Amino acid sequence: MATFPEQNSFSSARSVEQAPSGLTGSQEVAYAIVTHNLVRTFGQKVAVQNLNLAVRPGEFFGFLGPNGAGKSTTIKMMVGLLRPTSGSVQVGGVDVWKDSQQARALMGVLPEHLNLYERLSGREFITFAGHMYGVADSDVHKRTEELLQVLDLRNDADKLIVDYSVGMRKKVALAAAILHRPQVLFLDEPFEGIDPVSSRVVRDILHDLTRRGTTIFFSSHIMEVVERLCTRVGIINQGMLVAEGTLQELRERAQGEDKDATLEEIFLHAIGVQNENHNLSWLE
Ligand SMILES: Nc1ncnc2c1ncn2[C@@H]1O[C@H](COP(=O)(O)OP(=O)(O)O)[C@@H](O)[C@H]1O
Ligand SMILES: [Mg+2]
Repeated sequence: MATFPEQNSFSSARSVEQAPSGLTGSQEVAYAIVTHNLVRTFGQKVAVQNLNLAVRPGEFFGFLGPNGAGKSTTIKMMVGLLRPTSGSVQVGGVDVWKDSQQARALMGVLPEHLNLYERLSGREFITFAGHMYGVADSDVHKRTEELLQVLDLRNDADKLIVDYSVGMRKKVALAAAILHRPQVLFLDEPFEGIDPVSSRVVRDILHDLTRRGTTIFFSSHIMEVVERLCTRVGIINQGMLVAEGTLQELRERAQGEDKDATLEEIFLHAIGVQNENHNLSWLE
């Protein structure tokens, strides 16, 4: 399993860096992420409808939903990339749309569409991201090399990103999102397009981060990953939160009787998919 170096080799004296421990003492916040009546419309389309969510520090929160449910729109509003039509978002107790700079310093983000500098190499991009977050030079160097190693990017580290595969881009973007040890990490479909070996490495890294106090909010439609990693799950359908709780709670609520329901069954039930016949008539 990929592990981060013990305390402090992965953190420095900078204020941003102290974010994870900022959750203790007088600065303690009850929730790492809170959305209050969050709404986003696109013309007539209501992409996110009155979303109220509260994620506690250190939780590994899985955000599930079918295509077009509103997952990416929600994450974009949470991280300051897309202005809500109404409602508010707080991250680490900071209002994302009022004190955006302060809020962004607490976050790491792996967005839906990766906006990488194609003319930089992987190593240069990760290094650049570290400097952007104000991490000390020596730490940037050390962490970059370690991330390249763990994510199996060492051999391609000096290639330009323009020549990277989808999976390699995702890994570089992930490295750039976690190098500053964010207090809260947002990941939009992190396992999409990466191979099983890398997938496992990423899972281990994320798990390790949560063990060390990082809150993770990630969207996915890969049930197996969510089932294995998440402490809590929210299911969104047509812009509305239709279920939320620990897997155990969701199981208990799912129809009441089926205590062994899989997450897939809970998911399909929550979004109202019936057991229909999907055969193609012309294959008869
Ligand atoms: N920029 C946009 N303009 C118009 N409609 C959008 C835009 N972004 C998202 N939508 C619509 O909002 C809904 C939710 O999209 P999205 O949040 O991307 O879903 P998900 O990530 O769950 O697949 C979809 O119907 C999508 O077509
Ligand atoms: Mg999406």
